[in-house]
Amino acid sequence: MTTQLTKLPNFEEILQIAKDTFRQNFGSEPELGCCAPGRVNLIGEHIDYNDGFVLPMALPMVTLIVGSRCPGDEADIITCSASCEENKETARAKFSLTNMEPGKTKWANYIKGVIHYYSNKVQGFKAVIVSNVPIGSGLSSSASLEVATLTFLEHLTGRKVESNAKRALICQAAEHNYVEMPCGIMDQTISVCGQKNHALLLDCRSLETYQIPFVASEKDLVVLICNSGVRHELSKSEYPKRRAQCMQALELMALKSYRDATESSLSVLERSGEEELLKRARHVITEIKRTQDAAAALREHNFEKMGKLMKESHTSLRDDFQVSCIELDVLVNAAINCSGVLGSRMTGGGFGGCTVTLLQRSVVDSVMATMRENFIRKFNKDAAQRIEFYICTPSEGARRVSL
Ligand code: GLA
Repeated sequence: MTTQLTKLPNFEEILQIAKDTFRQNFGSEPELGCCAPGRVNLIGEHIDYNDGFVLPMALPMVTLIVGSRCPGDEADIITCSASCEENKETARAKFSLTNMEPGKTKWANYIKGVIHYYSNKVQGFKAVIVSNVPIGSGLSSSASLEVATLTFLEHLTGRKVESNAKRALICQAAEHNYVEMPCGIMDQTISVCGQKNHALLLDCRSLETYQIPFVASEKDLVVLICNSGVRHELSKSEYPKRRAQCMQALELMALKSYRDATESSLSVLERSGEEELLKRARHVITEIKRTQDAAAALREHNFEKMGKLMKESHTSLRDDFQVSCIELDVLVNAAINCSGVLGSRMTGGGFGGCTVTLLQRSVVDSVMATMRENFIRKFNKDAAQRIEFYICTPSEGARRVSL
């Protein structure tokens, strides 16, 4: 079995699907199109909600919305990416824009939430949504839907949100209160602010952003994402638990922010006998430092250092923060034992989803084959069939697209 890169539908293809679906269902051409990308986080995991730094990049994969104004105050939306719900290929939601209560349809709640927190009057509209961001894989398909929606609303109404930070906060509020996911601010920020050929260093305390040039190809390197194809149930319940534990640990250390902590702050936790809280706080404190170091390494084009920090990050997420899983560990271990691999780690919330690997372009085929072989050996052929690989370069953030 040869292992190849997965071919996702490209931008032109999803644009065509969106326009065709719009025409077939609404009998006219859409007047407006906007899109926003998913992301992969290079380093800085589970520290966006701890005042830390994160270093994600925007993906070429996007969620796209095309639509038009219409009379009245109803939203009529079709999604062509509804496979997550009821295994259908398309789904439709109609709701009154005068009642923004969350409803039963989860995908529509992301949209309702964004409309609600956008807080400008939105008149009736009809729209079609198509995405090529793999859904539920830890590549921020949700944030891309929220940010695409907000960008669409801004263009539809002509009323711009005053800053990128505010945009990210609106989308985060939608996710917190309309889909009950207490996420940090990383995914929405990178989806808004991504730039081609740049990783984004985000200071999650001040919400300041720094664009860091990241062109791996200048050293014949690539970023390889491996989608494990698994998502454990734990991912939903453990996330809020980790957040709460981080806060508890902070209180025990008598600190206001993890940014004021150093490794010596941990001695209080060591003495307290709170082994689990100690591990959580140690991850946060060391990951903040690793992310700052990684940003410096990228600025110096020191990709070896970057790779080493990625490996350390995975170890910390696995052993101290305990958000990895056996599938991700098998993939990361397989990768880091191959020559030509600089670093590899789980990325995103964990308990399944994806790994991200920095490696030489010349070894991509053999590394993908090794990762798959190890997966077969540990699990089985069926599980290995579900693995997908994508090579991605840092791409643009949310934008209007020409139709
Ligand atoms: C999810 C959340 C983010 C972040 C990551 C872990 O993707 O949405 O805010 O906390 O997990 O780094």
